[in-house]
Amino acid sequence: MYLAILVLLTSASWFSRTHAYIWPSPYDILEDAYVLSSGFGSDGTVDEVTPCSLSPAGGTTPGRQNTAEWLRTAYHDMATHDAATGLGGLDGSIQFETDRPENIGTAMNTTVEFFGPLQSKRASFADRLALGVVLAIKNCGGPAIPYRAGRIDATEAGALGVPQPEQSLETHVTAFARQGFNMTEMIGLVACGHTVGGVHEVDFPQTVRGAITSDNPEGVVHFDDTFDVYDNHIAAQYINGTSTDPLVVGFNTTTNSDARIFSADGNRTMQSFAMDPDFFLSRCGSLLERMLNTVPEGVALSDVIEPLEVKPHELRLFFTSTGGLTLSGNIRIFGTSPVAAAADPADMPVTLIWTDRNGGVNANYSTTGTSSPFMAATSLWGAVQLFSVSTPIDPSTGISSFVVDWAYNSQLALTTSDNGGSGFPIQDVVLFQPVKSCHGAVDQNSTINVVIRNDMGDVTSAYIEYTHSATQLGSMAFKQITIRADFVHAGNSSSPFYDTYTTSFLSNDGFLSLEADIVSFDLFAVVGGKTYSSLDNPQLFTPC
Ligand code: HEM
Ligand SMILES: *[C@@H]1O[C@H](CO)[C@@H](O)[C@H](O)[C@H]1NC(C)=O
Ligand SMILES: *[C@@H]1O[C@H](CO)[C@@H](O)[C@H](O)[C@H]1NC(C)=O
Ligand SMILES: *[C@@H]1O[C@H](CO)[C@@H](O)[C@H](O)[C@H]1NC(C)=O
Ligand SMILES: *[C@@H]1O[C@H](CO)[C@@H](O)[C@H](O)[C@H]1NC(C)=O
Ligand SMILES: *[C@@H]1O[C@H](CO)[C@@H](O)[C@H](O)[C@H]1NC(C)=O
Ligand SMILES: *[C@@H]1O[C@H](CO)[C@@H](O)[C@H](O)[C@H]1NC(C)=O
Ligand SMILES: *[C@@H]1O[C@H](CO)[C@@H](O)[C@H](O)[C@H]1NC(C)=O
Ligand SMILES: *[C@@H]1O[C@H](CO)[C@@H](O)[C@H](O)[C@H]1NC(C)=O
Repeated sequence: MYLAILVLLTSASWFSRTHAYIWPSPYDILEDAYVLSSGFGSDGTVDEVTPCSLSPAGGTTPGRQNTAEWLRTAYHDMATHDAATGLGGLDGSIQFETDRPENIGTAMNTTVEFFGPLQSKRASFADRLALGVVLAIKNCGGPAIPYRAGRIDATEAGALGVPQPEQSLETHVTAFARQGFNMTEMIGLVACGHTVGGVHEVDFPQTVRGAITSDNPEGVVHFDDTFDVYDNHIAAQYINGTSTDPLVVGFNTTTNSDARIFSADGNRTMQSFAMDPDFFLSRCGSLLERMLNTVPEGVALSDVIEPLEVKPHELRLFFTSTGGLTLSGNIRIFGTSPVAAAADPADMPVTLIWTDRNGGVNANYSTTGTSSPFMAATSLWGAVQLFSVSTPIDPSTGISSFVVDWAYNSQLALTTSDNGGSGFPIQDVVLFQPVKSCHGAVDQNSTINVVIRNDMGDVTSAYIEYTHSATQLGSMAFKQITIRADFVHAGNSSSPFYDTYTTSFLSNDGFLSLEADIVSFDLFAVVGGKTYSSLDNPQLFTPC
């Protein structure tokens, strides 16, 4: 019995240790997308919903609202989930379902078209959509919804099953039960959705009439008086009798589904939302979290992604065109304290201190990070600063890991960030070699060079896994295609410690294969019987 307790305690601490987010991680791209909202390093998601009222096509489509369209799209993707069979859920199947009457409107395709180019091997369409909803809602003043990654995209349409406004209350209760939400939760989830955006006459003429004008070409009527603030007005106005929600006070009682749903529990849920704005936000936070995490059975989501305090950003080890081995890229620092918010990056000491490939340390193994105005960035979750680092590394001693010594200003004591204890690992055996690597145009080969250390035993295998997006029928998003190509030995390199290996392959064959914005490739080499990898190298922009 004592033994059993001991085993339990030991495995519990092992569990928490191995589940801490340690760099590098398969979720690094999504963690960056979560943290870097605007400015340097951001992917444009938050800019697409800033301000909260922003409409698609750079704000040129009046009456539409990206935030609302993303949230509705996410719900419609999830709404076909069947809790009993485990089928469906937030799996991106919506990309194949935009022609269905239950998904009427151009909003779904606009949303799919926005997130498609952000897809990659490390970020499914469904993960991108879920993250977009989390960021958009926070950006509109709503709750911080915990974000997990790991959703897997469907490759075809799923079942039907999105609720429609002309259906009965019983039908809606049954549909939400199938999705995994009881009646109280249904009322909450609908109110948590219908606090932004509205109903468009062009798509719902049986619900909205006479709203189309030259300023309002789609004839939108908003659900509440603050369609661009994530707040409880949808409930407050419903309770105090000033609701404008076309699904509550619409001329057509058949499509007044919100009226039927909101009063289904004698108005108790809506009363509690109307009375307490903070309760509304916290309840919506947890209901939307459940909505976003409703995934097909068998899909395992990651732990909640929280911003790392110190994280390498696009940091690479490579030989420059002049032949020197260089560690170059950025260090990102994130914090939520007042001192973090007040920090001036120009006054922040940041030093990267490395350990060589033999575990040796040396007073010369350090370099300082520098800030510059063009690297300014903002985060919805706190303060973020980026510092560029670039330092030669002596190939004879190499590098194995580093720590970062830093502080929010020059008066403070330095903190050493060591990536959870063992330092930030840097692998110096197989390295992408940007020099003489190039990206092929349509129907032309790309060429990739790597260098592999030649003093560690035989290279028995070396290959690249190159992943890019490809078009698929019936969807404006993409599937991921991975090409594997073997490297062949090409001779020496600019360093006596490394040999050059090369490969050439076709990745972009015009019609089906298209390289969207995020391409990444992994390099693998078996050297002296051990496998080394260099993961998530970025797209090559140098054309062949
Ligand atoms: C019985 C359940 C529901 C019905 C019948 C329903 C019905 C509708 C209808 C008819 C519209 C108008 C769409 C347009 O004109 O563009 C709409 C908009 C919207 N719905 Fe729902 N909805 C339901 C549940 C939900 C849920 C659970 C959410 C999210 C949590 C949600 C989020 C939204 C959003 C954000 C909009 C505004 C879209 C925009 O302005 O572009 N809905 N809904
Ligand atoms: C729905 O589930 C919640 C717990 O999430 C519970 O508090 C509530 O009473 C349930 N409502 C109904 C109608 O069963
Ligand atoms: C009300 O909506 C229903 C369902 O869409 C439709 O069949 C009916 O014609 C509408 N009534 C009016 C007066 O537009
Ligand atoms: C109803 O609630 C809304 C939202 O809180 C508020 O702006 C409005 O003044 C209220 N109206 C009345 C008549 O109480
Ligand atoms: C619920 O609230 C609505 C809107 O204020 C009202 O019309 C309705 O009578 C209320 N229903 C109940 C059961 O209190
Ligand atoms: C550091 O570099 C300087 C200049 O190259 C050299 O003179 C010195 O010996 C080095 N220090 C150590 C500890 O190797
Ligand atoms: C959305 O895009 C897909 C793929 O291009 C297309 O097949 C579909 O008809 C579009 N749907 C709408 C409603 O425009
Ligand atoms: C190998 O070394 C020779 C002589 O130093 C040089 O001419 C040649 O370009 C090198 N090859 C590579 C692949 O760098
Ligand atoms: C292009 O790549 C293929 C392998 O995918 C290879 O067989 C072919 O030789 C390459 N062509 C050129 C011109 O390098």
